[in-house]
Amino acid sequence: MNKENSKHNLLQEKNTKALLGGGKDKQDAQHKKGKLTARERVEILVDEDSFEEMGKFVTSRSTDFATGTEEILGDGVITGYGTVEGRLIYVYSQDFTVFGGSLSEAHAEKICKVMDLAMKTGAPLIGLNDSGGARIQEGVVSLGGYADIFYRNTLASGVIPQLSAIMGPCAGGAVYSPALTDFILMVENTSYMFVTGPNVVKTVTHEEVSSEELGGAETHSTKSGVTHFSCSNDVDCIKHIKKLLSYIPQNCEEESPAYEYEIKENESASVLDSILPENPNQPYDMREVISGITDHDSFFEVHKNFAENIVVGFARLAGKSIGIVGNQPAVLAGVLDINSSNKAARFVRFCDCFNIPLLVLVDVPGFLPGTQQEWNGIISNGAKLLYAFSEATVPRITVITRKAYGGAYDVMNSKHIGADLNYAWPSAEIAVMGAKGAAEIIFKKEIAEAKDPQEKLQEKIDEYTLKFANPYIAAGRGYIDEVILPSETRKKLITAFGMLKNKVAKLPRKKHGNIPL
Ligand code: HXC
Repeated sequence: MNKENSKHNLLQEKNTKALLGGGKDKQDAQHKKGKLTARERVEILVDEDSFEEMGKFVTSRSTDFATGTEEILGDGVITGYGTVEGRLIYVYSQDFTVFGGSLSEAHAEKICKVMDLAMKTGAPLIGLNDSGGARIQEGVVSLGGYADIFYRNTLASGVIPQLSAIMGPCAGGAVYSPALTDFILMVENTSYMFVTGPNVVKTVTHEEVSSEELGGAETHSTKSGVTHFSCSNDVDCIKHIKKLLSYIPQNCEEESPAYEYEIKENESASVLDSILPENPNQPYDMREVISGITDHDSFFEVHKNFAENIVVGFARLAGKSIGIVGNQPAVLAGVLDINSSNKAARFVRFCDCFNIPLLVLVDVPGFLPGTQQEWNGIISNGAKLLYAFSEATVPRITVITRKAYGGAYDVMNSKHIGADLNYAWPSAEIAVMGAKGAAEIIFKKEIAEAKDPQEKLQEKIDEYTLKFANPYIAAGRGYIDEVILPSETRKKLITAFGMLKNKVAKLPRKKHGNIPL
């Protein structure tokens, strides 16, 4: 064998060895749990043959606790770049077969390297997480490695989109990097996120709880709201990532990709004219309004099972991405509370970071009253949504379908806090509060003194309804730019967002604002 050939063989050997990660047995065990390996995940994420790996031969520097007895190439994480639908992305994928995907010094350096490149070249970073946290054998250097990643996540926030998939048990430090990113996706039944696991919980608080209950996909997509998407398996999770990428731009200087869309003659969606029930106190599903307005089947809901009294997500209008925030009358009458305010505020800020125009659909009876809400801070949490809308400089359009009462009218992208265009349907009721509550307060004495108080109350409700439960007083003031028929909405919005395409709005010069966190 000549010298050149033996060098090539060595390379070949190393490449083969790197593919093994922590070994065939551990890869089989991964499959048995219904999980894909780190490399398989990358392969199905990126376009065919587009993945370029970096740091394949990196090894751990640690020798403590026998960690260095066997050379493991890659040190538990696959990093590199590739394309998704032809667009550049950077990815890291943690390999659970190597020390449980735990983060060593070298492992962290590999992740930081792709993060730095993603920032320099302005492309999304995708983290496929499957990690037991800091590599315990390495001690403080792995804590330092985590902090290096957290710091970069923070600097990259608002510059490039950062998406985190949780595809296995993620404990300790492994949960904080995802928490700093824009979206978290979890795989049902095989992924967990917790700062401290069930054993520590039991020792400290004496609570007995399973991993699934403590930090599984269902818990985080319904109770805590930590995760935005709950996916049925690894493949479904990666499908969600690709779909999400299709709605968002590469970085904060760019726009989302536009898709071909033919505007049809008969687009005025008459189905919208019959969605609202006769009785204004009856619920309907705001998703039906969304699907009547947006391009066919284009709504991609975010945070679907958390704070369901507000609906948020991406959609397309004549092929272009928009972000939608809509009160959901079908859940808690669409009232605003702590969780829905947080959910919507975070979504509004994402859209504003990445130049995605906002459509706000309003049917809100107000803020949820009660001690639980007050004691847990509905004031500062509701203020987050107010703040998020007020500082958003992307094109912003509001459509009031029915109720817009009280402070919630102001908060939900009203003209006063910077919306560009405000429409109302003829069914809109824009007032300080509902007719019954208003009548009971302002005519309290008259009602109490009436021969038939019930009859008097009804008379006053009717009077208030006639005067205020409509969009015309607000339209008379110019708070509403136009009262439109539901069936005209889609056409109006396509034209209006087109008009706003080149909107330029600047905030006062500042270091950064101080959102009421
Ligand atoms: C080194 C680890 C590890 C870790 C797991 N392994 N976690 N090695 N450091 N953090 C190793 C195991 O020893 C085992 O090696 C292999 O990975 C698979 O682990 P198992 O326990 O067999 O798997 P499983 O039953 O699926 O449980 C997975 C797990 C559990 C839930 C992640 O391993 C676990 O609880 N690990 C510890 C989690 C933790 O406390 N992390 C916190 C670190 S502190 P072998 O050789 O047997 O296959 C931290 C602080 C950072 O992260 C703070 C920053 C803010």
